[in-house]
Amino acid sequence: MIMTSSSIIGRPTPRVDGPLKTTGTAQFSADFHFDRLVHAMPVGAGIASGRITKLDTSAAESMPGVLLVLHHGNIGPLFRTAPGDADTSNSEARPAFEDEVIRHWGQHVAVVIANTLEQATAGAAAVKVEYAPDTASLSASLDDFKGERKSVSERGDVDKAFDDAPVKIDANYVTPIETHNPIEMHATVAVWDGDRVTLYETTQGVVNHRAVMSQVLGVPMENVRVVTKFLGSGFGGKFPWPHCALAAVAARRLNRPVKLSLTRRMMFSSVGYRPRTEQHVQLGATKEGKLLALRHDYLNVTSQLDDYDEGCGEATPYLYSVANLEVTGATVKRHTGTPIWMRGPGAVPGLFGTESAMNELADELKMDPLRLRVINDAETDESNKLPFSSRHLRECLETGAKKFGWEKRNPEVGSMRRDGKILGWGVAAASWIAMRLPCTASVEFCANGRLCVRCATQDIGTGTYTVFAQVVHEKTGVPMDRIDVIIGDSALPAGPFSGGSLVTGSVLSAIASGAENAIKRLQQVAAATEGSPYHQASLETISYSGGILHKKDQAPADGTHFAEILKMAKVNGLSAEGNSQPTSEDPKAKGVSLHSYGAQFVEVEWEPDIARLRVSRVVTVIDAGRIINPTAATNQVAGAVVMGIGMGMLEETIYDERTGQPINGSLADYLVATCADSPDIDVTFLDYPDPGMGEYGARGVGEIGLAGVAPAITAAVHHATGVRVRELPVRIEDLLKSKIVSV
Ligand code: MOS
Repeated sequence: MIMTSSSIIGRPTPRVDGPLKTTGTAQFSADFHFDRLVHAMPVGAGIASGRITKLDTSAAESMPGVLLVLHHGNIGPLFRTAPGDADTSNSEARPAFEDEVIRHWGQHVAVVIANTLEQATAGAAAVKVEYAPDTASLSASLDDFKGERKSVSERGDVDKAFDDAPVKIDANYVTPIETHNPIEMHATVAVWDGDRVTLYETTQGVVNHRAVMSQVLGVPMENVRVVTKFLGSGFGGKFPWPHCALAAVAARRLNRPVKLSLTRRMMFSSVGYRPRTEQHVQLGATKEGKLLALRHDYLNVTSQLDDYDEGCGEATPYLYSVANLEVTGATVKRHTGTPIWMRGPGAVPGLFGTESAMNELADELKMDPLRLRVINDAETDESNKLPFSSRHLRECLETGAKKFGWEKRNPEVGSMRRDGKILGWGVAAASWIAMRLPCTASVEFCANGRLCVRCATQDIGTGTYTVFAQVVHEKTGVPMDRIDVIIGDSALPAGPFSGGSLVTGSVLSAIASGAENAIKRLQQVAAATEGSPYHQASLETISYSGGILHKKDQAPADGTHFAEILKMAKVNGLSAEGNSQPTSEDPKAKGVSLHSYGAQFVEVEWEPDIARLRVSRVVTVIDAGRIINPTAATNQVAGAVVMGIGMGMLEETIYDERTGQPINGSLADYLVATCADSPDIDVTFLDYPDPGMGEYGARGVGEIGLAGVAPAITAAVHHATGVRVRELPVRIEDLLKSKIVSV
């Protein structure tokens, strides 16, 4: 096939959907409008634990424009999804209004449907709920935990090795609850046509959402269609939640299209969060800094009915070489909503613990933290004794050090100055999973001279539309502006969910083989069509270049455009499918340890007189396999770094421990990093294709850029101020403990 040096794979490529977004014509889920559409507004519980004793809807029902109020008493049957079904991932076991028990503040107890959004909102405020409250378990701290911990990974004798180690770090690290704040809030528009329902939904997985809604609504799979044309991001939170079924039920009851769009405040209580983690890390090392023991015990909060495991030990077992190791984990139930994945789940909070401890060990040893990581670099994955497929952590660290100017670092606390400010420098390593999910894509040559590629995946905002067009262009030579990418619809050939940074790596081979198969079909049709210049030619003699069929000994300019061939054959379009084999079934991927790596270098500026601290500079070096679109990839990593600054310095959901209400549940009170918080960010990719990841060797970049940012920030904070922050985010109260009071 055409794989020229001018390949579009790896070339900076602008978003094919950019014009739709910049002109406001991209249709996000809540933008879908239909005749006779009405609006739904949920009512949230005002207590964290107890039972509903009375739900009075009479006032709401008599308000102008109110059409229907649904609640436990009249919702009708909604079902749970069958447990253990790998293709049906539901975020909460319990469907909406299943019982009268309240298990967290803001749990939906009713939904009001009215002609306008304002009427629905007013109606929701008029629903009167009385409760018999129970004692709620709401303490933020998890230190009351007494249960069993499950061992996640174990080798050697970690406790003995730690006891015997000449140098030790033994510390606790805490990451708070963080709330996903995509710009686009969760929304569903439900439209019935007879016994078929179409859901315009904000989901990171149209295929999964269809399967879940089919089960929850009790509607056969073939009668449910889920459409997600554009997402204003999701960060891991846009998966099925109880409210998602309500629009469908209301629409069926009223025989009208229904739109349900959550408010920003509801985003803080009913659609997941990154759970608080409490991590105990022990490191034992020789005086030369060689690791002897590594223990990592984590706890995370979860809800009453769902056991969400944050998996903080994801990266711990393979990141460094250490003979004695144990990772354990456990969950602690509180009366809060159910947590869910948030960008870099598991590894990102986990690395805050382990990489912070590595930085503390370096200080204890009076050793360069960069060198400590290099001398403990792992040659093989010691957790499963598999070779690494492609690991360049050391090169990430060394390249980053050069770009950052690390050799000028004076390790003494508060010793570095610039422009009347104290500088702090910190470093951390990063890692993230890699795998390929199964995927089918179809590629169609159309008689109008265009190409269509189709797949039931979706673009969470990362550039998935563009990656599809790039690969089709690469394989067919048809110009990008004649390629139509059709995704975001569960009716298309099944593709992956947008999560785990897995989409790019998962879809590439399906698209590529779909395109190759479509070209083969075109050659077959050309040979089978009477009047075609290739009629009855043997297939090997029919060449394909850039949309043109020509005889092997003929220049493409003298050949026939595919549109002509299709017209001769009197067909409108010619389509073929391709598949990606999941890594779990790929012999090349099964025997290797597949991960992405990175290094984060952070500079902070500290002004002790006014206790102001800013992250001023970040250098990020990422080893994520082959980079398909450097523009989109750089944007992903830079965005993740900004989110890392939020994690390090700002983000934290605070609950009122009396009521369970998130007290900073708005964008005015919950601080995310913005442009004003964003430093100079330098993103570099090593760009080594991963042989375990198929023809293109791409591993994906959505999450790795967030890993390691927070521990690099707290290391820089310590270097500037002398204050060791082990509980995120870094607060001004922490900084005021600094003994450095002037520059
Ligand atoms: Mo990502 S947290 O896997 O959407």
